[in-house]
Amino acid sequence: MSIKFNENNNVFILSTKNTSYIMGLLKGKHLLHLYYGKKLSSFPSNVESMIPSRLSASGSASGIEGGFSSDLLPIEYPTYGSTDLRTPAFHAVYEDGSATTNLEYISHTIYDGKKELSGLPSTYSESGDDVTSLEIKLGDKRTRLEVMLIYSVYEKFDAIVRSVNFINDGYGTINIKSALSQCAYMFDKDFDIVHLSGGYGTERLINKTKVSHGIFTVDSKRMSSSHHHSPFIALARPNVSETEGEVYGFSLIYSGDFIAGAEMDTYDNIRINMGINPFGFNWKLEPGDTFQIPELVSVYSENGFGHMSRCYHKLYRKRLCRGKFRDTHRPILLNSWEACYYDFNEEKIINLAKKAKQAGIEMLVLDDGWFGKRDDDTTSLGDWYVNRKKIPSGLGGLADRINSIGLKFGIWMEPEMISPQSELYKEHPDWCIAERGRESSLYRNQLILDLSRTEVQDFIINSVSSVLSLGNISYLKWDMNRNVSEKGSQNLPVDRQQELSHRYYLGLYRVLDVISKQFPNVLFEGCAAGGGRYDPGMLYYFPQYWTSDNSDAISRLYIQYGTSLVMPSSTMVTHVSSSPNKQNGRITPMDTRANVAMTGQLGYELNLLELSDDEILQIRTQIDAYKKYRDTVCFGDMYRLKSPFESDCSSVSFVKDDKSSVFVMICNSFVMKHLSPMLNIKLQGLDPKGVYVSDDGTMAYTGEFLMNRGLYFADRRDYKSEILYFEKQ
Ligand code: GLA
Repeated sequence: MSIKFNENNNVFILSTKNTSYIMGLLKGKHLLHLYYGKKLSSFPSNVESMIPSRLSASGSASGIEGGFSSDLLPIEYPTYGSTDLRTPAFHAVYEDGSATTNLEYISHTIYDGKKELSGLPSTYSESGDDVTSLEIKLGDKRTRLEVMLIYSVYEKFDAIVRSVNFINDGYGTINIKSALSQCAYMFDKDFDIVHLSGGYGTERLINKTKVSHGIFTVDSKRMSSSHHHSPFIALARPNVSETEGEVYGFSLIYSGDFIAGAEMDTYDNIRINMGINPFGFNWKLEPGDTFQIPELVSVYSENGFGHMSRCYHKLYRKRLCRGKFRDTHRPILLNSWEACYYDFNEEKIINLAKKAKQAGIEMLVLDDGWFGKRDDDTTSLGDWYVNRKKIPSGLGGLADRINSIGLKFGIWMEPEMISPQSELYKEHPDWCIAERGRESSLYRNQLILDLSRTEVQDFIINSVSSVLSLGNISYLKWDMNRNVSEKGSQNLPVDRQQELSHRYYLGLYRVLDVISKQFPNVLFEGCAAGGGRYDPGMLYYFPQYWTSDNSDAISRLYIQYGTSLVMPSSTMVTHVSSSPNKQNGRITPMDTRANVAMTGQLGYELNLLELSDDEILQIRTQIDAYKKYRDTVCFGDMYRLKSPFESDCSSVSFVKDDKSSVFVMICNSFVMKHLSPMLNIKLQGLDPKGVYVSDDGTMAYTGEFLMNRGLYFADRRDYKSEILYFEKQ
C-alpha cells in the first residue's frame, strides 16, 4: 500500500518508488503539508515537532486557537479569511457577503485504484499499476462547504496526482473566486523556477528565473492554455543538470485559463499555486451542487530534469493518452498545408497522393480549404460540407481514390470556430462568444463558438460525425486558431458570465469524449495554430499534437527540446518541410530536416510534386530507416544529451525500455564563426556491460564506453546533423 495513515500521530504518508509526500493533522483538525521529496524511511513521531519553531514569533497573529497563526504554517489547502494572508488556494464569497473559509478535518478514506474525474481529463489506472488513492474530507462548519482533497499515488510511475472536489452542503449560494488544484511547499528558498514560454512559432522555450520574495506567476487569460505559457512549472535547485540535482515538476491537466506561480514568504518558504486562473473567474455553487477542479501531477527528481521528464513521459504516454493508437505506430503522413495551402483541386491531391505512395508515405491529409467557400481564411468555418468545385468526388469519393492508390486518407477541421461569413453565422449569430452591444474583435477573420451551450456542443458533435462518416477517413487534425476577446455568452445569465472559460472547456471535453469514443479507429491529432494548446488535457483525447507551425528544423530543435520537458515523443508531431523554410526562409539540408523530425512522430509537409526523383528516393530511405527506429523513439526513454539553449548544438537520445537499442540525434544549431572543434557526446541510460553495434555494422562499443567516453560528432558545419542507431548484441 503506497498510502498509509498513522493513527497514533495523525500522519498521512504517500510513497512512490523514490519519493515521500507527508501530511499531518495538527490538533487533529488542521491538515498540514509536512514534507515532499526524496523517499524517507523514518518520520518524527508527532506533527508538532515537524512544524516551524517560529510559531510563537512576536508580531504574528495568535490565530483562532491562541496557539498558532496559520500565516506561519504549511497549510495543505490554504483558504482565505483567517490568519494565513499569503495567496490562498481557495477564496469564496458566501451568500451573506462573508469571505472566510476555515477548513477542518472531517474524515478520510484510502482505496486501491483511481476514480475518473467527472467531466475533466485525468490520468487513469490499469490493473497491476499499484495506484492507491486517498480522499481527505475537510469542512467549514459555518457555511457547510465540504472540500474533498483527492490524491492518487502512482508508485511505479513515481508521480503523485491530486485534485479537489467542492460540495455545497449548506443553504446558500457560494461564489467561488479561486479554487486552485495545488498548493505545495518548499521549506527553503534555494530554488530557480523553470517554465515554458513563447508565442506563435516559438512554443515552449525554456526559461529560468530565481525565486525571490514576492510572487512569480505565469498564466493564460486567452481561453486556452496558449502558445505563450504552458501549464507547467518546475522548482529546481540552482545548477541542476539533466542528470543531477533536485527538481520538483508540477503539471496541470487542463486546457483553459490557468495560473502557475511561486510565492516566497517572509520566512523563505515557497508556496506553489497552480490551477484554474482566478482572473475573471467566478463559479456559483448552489446548495447541493459539486465543483470538480483539474488534476495536477507532481514529480520529484533527485536526478535532474532527465528523470523528471521521463516520469512525465511514461505516465502521460501510458496513463493519460487513451485508445487504440496509444501503443501503436501511427501512419506516416503527407499534409497538404505547406504543399498547397488553399490552392488545390481533386486532381492535384490525387497527384500528390501518387507521389507520396512512391515515397513510401502511408496517409494523405487534406488540410484547410476543402469545405464551404473556403479559398482563403475569410470564410466558411462552421459550414462543414465539401466544396464540390474543388473536390467533385466529395470526401467519400476522394477517400476511395486515395485508398485505391494504397494510402489512408485524413482531413483537417476547426470545429470550435465560426466565420462571420458563413451560413452557420447567418443562421445562429448568437452561437459565438461575444458581448452584447459591443463589436467583436476578429483573429484570422473568425469568432469562437460558445461551447458552454449544449446545442453548440451537439452541433459540433453532429458536424464532425457527419464528416467522418462521409467515407473511409482514418485521421482528423482538430485545429483551433484564435484567442478569446469580448468574452461573453449570449446564453449564460449575467451572474454566470464569469464561468464561461471553464464551461467552454467542460463543453469541449464532452464533445471530444463523445467523438473519440464514437470513432475509436480514427487517429485524432490536436493543433492550435501550431502547438498553441498542446497541454496534458488535450492528450486525454488526442494521442498526438502538431508541435508548432514553425516547421524549420533548426527552430524545431529548441521547440521540441522545450516541449520534451513534459510531453512524450509519441505525442509530438514533427514534419519534414521544404527548404527554404516557408516560415523563416532558412535553408537546411534535407537529411537534417528528416533527422530532426525523426525524434517524434515523423511526417511530411511539402510539395512532393516539386521534388526530384532523387529527393523522393531520399524520403523513401528516411521512412524505411524511421520504421526501424520508431519503436525506440516513440516508446523508449528519452535522454537529453545537449541543450540548444546552452550550447551550439542539440542532441537527444532514446533508449528502449529493456536497453536493447538506442537512437541518437545530434544537430548543429549555430552559425559557424570559425572552424569548430569536434563534439563529444556521452550517452545515457544504456546497459554498461552490453555491446552496442551500429545498424550499418561499422561500430561496436560497450554501453560503459558510450556513456563514459562518448561518441565524436565531427561535422560541425552549420545545420549539419547525424543520427545513430545501435542495437545490443
Ligand atoms: C493552422 C495550423 C496549420 C494549418 C492551418 C490551416 O495555422 O496550425 O497547420 O492547418 O491552420 O489553416
